[in-house]
Amino acid sequence: METIRIATTPFEGQRPGTSGLRKKVKVFQQPGYLENFVQAILDTLPELQGGSLVVGGDGRYFNREAIQVILRLAAANGVRRLIVGRGGLFSTPAVSCVIRKHKTQGGIVLSASHNPGGPDEDFGIKFNSANGGPAPESVTEAIFERTKTIDRYLTLDTPPLDLDQLGTFTLGETEIEIIDPVSDYADLMEALFDFDAIHHLFNSGHFQMRFDAMHAITGPYAVEILENRLGAAPGTVMNGVPLEDFGGGHPDPNLAHAQELVALTQGKDGLDFGAASDGDGDRNMILGHDCFVTPSDSLAILAANAHLLPGYRQGIRGIARSMPTSQAANRVADFLGIECFETPTGWKFFGNLLDAGRITLCGEESFGTGSDHVREKDGLWAVLFWLNLLAVRQQSVAEILTDHWRRFGRNFYTRHDYEAVDLAAAAGLVDHLRRLLPDLPGRQLGAEIVSYADDFAYTDPIDGSVSEHQGLRIGFESGARIVYRLSGTGTSGATLRVYLEYFEPDPMLHQRDTQEAMRPLILIARELAQIEARTGRAEPDVVT
Ligand code: G1P
Ligand code: ZN
Repeated sequence: METIRIATTPFEGQRPGTSGLRKKVKVFQQPGYLENFVQAILDTLPELQGGSLVVGGDGRYFNREAIQVILRLAAANGVRRLIVGRGGLFSTPAVSCVIRKHKTQGGIVLSASHNPGGPDEDFGIKFNSANGGPAPESVTEAIFERTKTIDRYLTLDTPPLDLDQLGTFTLGETEIEIIDPVSDYADLMEALFDFDAIHHLFNSGHFQMRFDAMHAITGPYAVEILENRLGAAPGTVMNGVPLEDFGGGHPDPNLAHAQELVALTQGKDGLDFGAASDGDGDRNMILGHDCFVTPSDSLAILAANAHLLPGYRQGIRGIARSMPTSQAANRVADFLGIECFETPTGWKFFGNLLDAGRITLCGEESFGTGSDHVREKDGLWAVLFWLNLLAVRQQSVAEILTDHWRRFGRNFYTRHDYEAVDLAAAAGLVDHLRRLLPDLPGRQLGAEIVSYADDFAYTDPIDGSVSEHQGLRIGFESGARIVYRLSGTGTSGATLRVYLEYFEPDPMLHQRDTQEAMRPLILIARELAQIEARTGRAEPDVVT
């Protein structure tokens, strides 16, 4: 089989962010576009020659075609072994799991996470390193540099491989192993959680749940784990068949996009438990009967209860939360006498802390929760953690939540997003706030007194690298906080995120509506940043 050398010219703007290179499908379909980027990965990482690589994606439109391209390029470039999920499928946390279990030199994940899929929607590709986590910035920058000078790619002239057949095949000199994308991951879950206890809960006759896979990648994982291994009733997994366009939906598990599930948990006959995950399986949403668990509270509750579960029986070493995530986890860390790190937004900042054994659990307010079992956030893992907890504590989600608040106090939390804001207006707003920051400490705003105000910078405790301008923080003496940040993933204009947190030590007040409880702080945040005057928006587009 001949290796073919194809002359090519660079494409502008093949810069991978922390979630990889994300573009419209139409962009990826340009001749040579995907090839150039994959070749840049292969050129940048010499260890892949003679090494092994995991390949798979969330099944969205263009997944199969992209995998054929990657297999040919990898083979032509001397990768010794490729592990591919059957049908070209792998959830993002499963890729992380398989890289670690099979000790490969890395993996290629095809996904645009929670963004819609289809011919006119999004696609994405990212490289994960040998530790199972997203490549560090030094690597993604090197890949980007290579895309600017690339002038050829190597491929094979071969027919497409049948991705639906399990087994070992060869492509040139390369061995291609097509494996069940679910089993390694399901085995790992079985090692971490008490499957007998969860099985018992499911068969107790008084527990009703649904898992909404949103027609995305977690369908097959949830069917195997929840229905086959744990004995949940057939039909427990809803929207369980992955579709190339996610059924036209927006596969993002939140109160706005998983409304069908939310409705099932409400009212007299509401379910005891509802959960959902996103396009590529790394996000999670947790619901109880008439009850929503904020991701910030979820992280704190998992930390406070981890010792009850087999995989975490020895206790947890430390916790990390992204800066805008509420400080609920800090209260648990203080109680446990362990460290709680505050990192910039983005999963990559947890990698070093996990690798160094400084933390066991980590999470973001944006529906991402995870632990040291892989190096990605993990949707189904969080769901199983909660199910194990419900089984062991024999309490409802709402009882566990209110118990937690009674013990630690409650961090009321909300995020207000202003989307597609004019870029210059958003930049002006941030500048205005930056200028205000130095004068804020000691000042009274409404009923609150500012204790600190800064432009968040983070020094990685493991490698000493510094990340600046990660969001503006205003902390109050009461423990309340306002955080302003511009999204790094938005696609049109700027997205201004305002994160608000207010600490309520008196659990008797916990039934208050969140937006109502936070109203004074919301008004302070709007006024301080001059949001309406600068953006023309009186109200946010999305309230979480
Ligand atoms: C958003 C979330 C962030 C998450 C990222 C990737 O980024 O806020 O927590 O890590 O998606 O899933 P943002 O748009 O805020 O930059
Ligand atoms: Zn995702």
